[in-house]
Amino acid sequence: MSAATVMLAAGVAFLPYLAKAPLPLPPPSSDVLSVLLATLLVLVATLIALVLKSTPKLPPDAAPMKLTGDLMKDFMIVFEGLTKEVIADVNQYKLPPRTAEYMKRLMEYNVPKGKLTRGLTVIQAYKSIKKADKISDVEFRRAAALGWTVEWLQAQFLVMDDIMDASETRRGQPCWYLLPDVKLNAINDGLLLECQIYVILKKYFGAETELYVQLFQLIQETTHQTALGQFLDLTTSEPHKVDFGRFSLDVYSDIVIYKTAFYSFYLPCALGMRLAGVNDPKLYDLAKTICIEIGHLFQVQDDYLDCYGDPDTIGKIGTDIRDNKCGWLINRALAKCSVEQRKELEKNYAKGVDASAEAKVKKIFKDLDVESDFRAHEEAAYKKITAMIAEVKGMPSDIFTFLLEKIYKRKK
Ligand code: IPE
Ligand code: IPE
Ligand code: MN
Ligand code: MN
Repeated sequence: MSAATVMLAAGVAFLPYLAKAPLPLPPPSSDVLSVLLATLLVLVATLIALVLKSTPKLPPDAAPMKLTGDLMKDFMIVFEGLTKEVIADVNQYKLPPRTAEYMKRLMEYNVPKGKLTRGLTVIQAYKSIKKADKISDVEFRRAAALGWTVEWLQAQFLVMDDIMDASETRRGQPCWYLLPDVKLNAINDGLLLECQIYVILKKYFGAETELYVQLFQLIQETTHQTALGQFLDLTTSEPHKVDFGRFSLDVYSDIVIYKTAFYSFYLPCALGMRLAGVNDPKLYDLAKTICIEIGHLFQVQDDYLDCYGDPDTIGKIGTDIRDNKCGWLINRALAKCSVEQRKELEKNYAKGVDASAEAKVKKIFKDLDVESDFRAHEEAAYKKITAMIAEVKGMPSDIFTFLLEKIYKRKK
């Protein structure tokens, strides 16, 4: 039974008493007045009940904090609060103090140092649906906490991805698994980061069963899709065994939609939509279609930057050529190279850390001018996505514009 129904029933039951109450008015109009008064009471009570039910709340023991009104500053302030709350959750188990110390270090090293686009997208999507530039502090803290769960998920994926890709740097610092006291314990650390997502989720949304289940399922399903994408990424080729017959732009699309687009673009949009109360499945399908296109473009850019980006700017050293990846550049090169060039690529692709082999592959990319192909692709994808956004009906489209503008021509 809804709060409104209960209030209505209570109001009706109360009517006879009101009717009998002595009022300084003649009987007929007093009856009318009583009925009016009772109806008004019921209406007010119903309204209060509805407002109370829909007013967002924070968990009673949420870390105290003072927000500044500056988006980035406040997002980081929420992060500080969340790390404290995660550590408080660990402390319930009364483990040796180094446990909490390590968790703090794990989170601070791996969670907050990226561009934070995924986390901020949750807040942006929420505001977009609410058609509000300003939201209350409570609403902000809820959206930000939910945003951080996506950054926690990103941290987990990156810690694991760097092991599997044998990467050296990430966000301008050594990869976590390369730290002398971490090494392959990083596998368990990835798991810990994932568990922390659900500590935060339960703490902030556990009391709102319907919303909680929706958010939980979204994150869980997307994690699965991403792991499947990573599976495709890792198994399309075997290490050091070149078989270009297995590469194609269709194979590529599957890999990148699963490994990147779902968790990087659809998930934060959909979480913001859920938090803002969107229920229409068609709108989620619509968001997914557009986010898949944006995510595809984002990964093409990532592949481009892997080869042509400045490591100081992108914060990582490219590994796609040495790792035998079915990336966008090699697929473009294979589509337009001569027989001799293909042989040269076969000889030098996937040679591990071998600067001269990598340089030979990059030289062929240069000769084939795949860089120009990338620029053309970026323009075409931008136009295509802009046209898709223009067709959006049933919800505000500015969240998609925000994402597209954020990534278009990005240098990092
Ligand atoms: C890197 O993502 C992983 C990919 C999906 C390509 P970002 O480029 O968004 O990395 P951060 O979080 O900003 O460091
Ligand atoms: C990684 O793709 C996608 C996930 C982390 C799930 P990449 O392997 O291309 O990402 P980078 O280039 O290492 O950031
Ligand atoms: Mn990688
Ligand atoms: Mn990459």
